[in-house]
Amino acid sequence: MSGTFTVVRTLGRSDAAHDILEELPEWFGIDRFTHEYVEAAAKFPNYVAVAVPETADSAVGPGGGEVPFEDVLGVLLVDQRYPTSAEVHLLAVRRKHHRAGIGRSLLERVEEDLRAQGVRVLSVKTLGPSASDPDFDRTRAFYTACGFHPVEEFPDLWADNPCLLMVKAL
Ligand SMILES: CC(C)(COP(=O)(O)OP(=O)(O)OC[C@H]1O[C@@H](n2cnc3c(N)ncnc32)[C@H](O)[C@@H]1OP(=O)(O)O)[C@@H](O)C(=O)NCCC(=O)NCCS
Repeated sequence: MSGTFTVVRTLGRSDAAHDILEELPEWFGIDRFTHEYVEAAAKFPNYVAVAVPETADSAVGPGGGEVPFEDVLGVLLVDQRYPTSAEVHLLAVRRKHHRAGIGRSLLERVEEDLRAQGVRVLSVKTLGPSASDPDFDRTRAFYTACGFHPVEEFPDLWADNPCLLMVKAL
């Protein structure tokens, strides 16, 4: 992980999730889904990447709760429905910090925690390749680089958009 951010597990950072999603309309441009993600941020474990200021002794409190939302650089929400599997419900990194290792670091921290709890499989649902969307080509390239494998594209799971299920053994 780079020295400029740290990953914190916290709860209920809907403010940060909302702010980051608004920055990324190519991926999260549908209001209804943004509301759903913001609600999810209030109930699922949140992993947030927080900027570490060069001068401050500590910007991160025990739960990450005192951190202002503008200092949250990325957010990952985990939905665990079964004891041995979990899903990445949301992963988003502020645009100007893309490709700085934040997404990978968020995933690595989540995977470490899940493995310790006996979780064996991590999945994610994202836009499938048949939609021909270059933004989501990059998203799938990220998940592939992080060890996820495509399993199946479901044409009808989401209204109007093909859904690709990707999985990773932990
Ligand atoms: C997808 C996303 C979470 C990745 O986070 P990130 O911090 O930018 O990614 P990282 O820097 O950790 O990238 C890790 C690896 O993934 C791959 N990768 C990341 N972005 C990529 C891109 N645009 N094109 C190709 N490969 C890419 C690379 O192999 C990269 O390693 P490298 O930089 O050493 O080559 C982030 O770009 C994002 O928020 N995108 C918009 C929202 C989104 O797509 N969310 C997921 C919806 S399901």
